[in-house]
Amino acid sequence: MKNRTNASVKKHYEQGHKYTSRQTEEDAVFDSYEWSHYEVLEIGCGEGTLAKRIYDTGAAIFASDYVDYDWDKTKRGPIYLLGSYKEILGHYDVVVMQGVLEHMDDPKETLEYIRDNFQPDTIISSSPCWFNPRGIVLQTLYQLFDLPITLADLHYISPKDMELEGYKLTWKTVDHDWASGQKMIDDLENRLPKVLENVEADVEKLLHWLKQVPQQGLGATIIYYLEKI
Ligand SMILES: C[S@@+](CC[C@H](N)C(=O)[O-])C[C@H]1O[C@@H](n2cnc3c(N)ncnc32)[C@H](O)[C@@H]1O
Repeated sequence: MKNRTNASVKKHYEQGHKYTSRQTEEDAVFDSYEWSHYEVLEIGCGEGTLAKRIYDTGAAIFASDYVDYDWDKTKRGPIYLLGSYKEILGHYDVVVMQGVLEHMDDPKETLEYIRDNFQPDTIISSSPCWFNPRGIVLQTLYQLFDLPITLADLHYISPKDMELEGYKLTWKTVDHDWASGQKMIDDLENRLPKVLENVEADVEKLLHWLKQVPQQGLGATIIYYLEKI
């Protein structure tokens, strides 16, 4: 990931790159908050499916992305803002980011920027979780050999990275079948041959062994909650 930046990630999404389906993640993020009473800013809203659900609760939602997803602004729905989050003004009760922080040049700086400029009581942010069988296999390939285990991530975020002065951090994980179950096997069957394209490796042997791993541990997606102290 040496030459990747947040600007190069933009080109990646503009070229129509489809990110992995995030339905379980979206359901978990949506279900974990009483949105209806609040003014919400979503950063990196993508096609806007989470924003639409938040809008339908009666919340005031501003959904932003630096890529134009051709949002249908003729229908009643979220207010869409095209541009990087640094172009947005105002204060919001809640800032939500789903699968976005790992694409920033400096996630810590982004969290501090959100705190200092939008002054939210709550920040909700989800990212891939790497502390499970799927994560350990992929991180071993990345940490030891710098192999391209993902296409658009600039960082592999952990709870330590999410600590923010003035806020209390809690987190939970979801997507357990993607961390060490059938969805993990399906994902790695697709991903590993590409990751190991230029390496002589017996991928089938590893996959065969991974199929024996009992389901366990943390899920493949982690949702962080930062509450102002
Ligand atoms: C993995 S996609 C997730 C999209 C959506 N949140 C979802 O879960 O379906 C990451 C999104 O973050 C957006 N993004 C990345 N950096 C951004 C920035 N600096 N400002 C605004 N959006 C950004 C990308 O354009 C992309 O739509």
